[in-house]
Amino acid sequence: MRRLDLPDAPSGAGSDDPRISAPSALRNRDLIAAELARVAPPKARALEIASGTGEHVVRFAAVLPGLMWQPTDPDPSRRASIAAWTRESGLGNIRPPRDLDATRYGWADEEPCPANLVVLVNLLHLISVPEAETVLTEIAAVLAPGGVFVLYGPFLRDGEATSEGDAAFDASLRAQDPEIGYKDVIDTCACLVDAGLSHVETVAMPANNLLLVFERRDVT
Ligand SMILES: C[S@@+](CC[C@H](N)C(=O)[O-])C[C@H]1O[C@@H](n2cnc3c(N)ncnc32)[C@H](O)[C@@H]1O
Repeated sequence: MRRLDLPDAPSGAGSDDPRISAPSALRNRDLIAAELARVAPPKARALEIASGTGEHVVRFAAVLPGLMWQPTDPDPSRRASIAAWTRESGLGNIRPPRDLDATRYGWADEEPCPANLVVLVNLLHLISVPEAETVLTEIAAVLAPGGVFVLYGPFLRDGEATSEGDAAFDASLRAQDPEIGYKDVIDTCACLVDAGLSHVETVAMPANNLLLVFERRDVT
C-alpha cells in the first residue's frame, strides 16, 4: 500500500499492491458517512465523483448498503486503488470504478441512468472556476428528481479564508496555478441553484470544511 503523505515507493518496490491510502480520507470518512446516512435516500443509485483512493466509497457503501455505489476518477492509479479497496471490503454494492473527468461538458447526458445521490469530496479547490461551474452543472443534470447532492470541502466565506492554514493552502494552490484555489461558498451555492437544485443545509465540519446538501425538488 502507498500512503499519500509518504514519498512514492521506488519503482518496483511494493508495486503489486495498488491500494493507496490518504490520511485525510481516513480522518474525515466516518464524519462524512454519518452525514450521508442522515440525508441520503435509502435506496437506488449513488455516484461518487473524484473518488480518489477508494477509502471513502468502501465506508460509504458499508454505511448505506441500500445504495449501489458507482465510484469514478480520471486517474488510472486511483481507479486501481478503488478496485483493490473494493475487493478487500467484500461489499457487493460497489461497481467497478469508472473513468470520469467531471469537468468535461456533457458527461451527465452520457450517464446510463440518473443518480439518486451524488457525492463530491475535495475537488473544487483543485480546479478553475469555469471547470467547477461545469462540474456542478453536470452534477445537477445527472440527479434524478428527489435526488440529493452532498458536496464537501474547504471554501472561502465572503471571499476570505477562515484560518491561517486555509489561507496558506489556498495561496500555495494559486501559486501552482493562478486559475485554481478555494471557491466561495456563496458562488458555489448560487451556481447549483441556477442549475435547478435547492439548498437544503450547510453543515460545519472539522478543520473549517463545509458539507453542503442540495436536492433536486422538481418532479417529472
Ligand atoms: C484531493 S483528491 C480527493 C479524493 C477523494 N474525494 C478524497 O477526498 O479523499 C482529488 C481527486 O480528484 C481527482 N480529479 C482530478 N481532476 C478531476 C476531474 N477533472 N474530474 C474528476 N476527478 C478529478 C483526482 O484524481 C483525485 O483523485
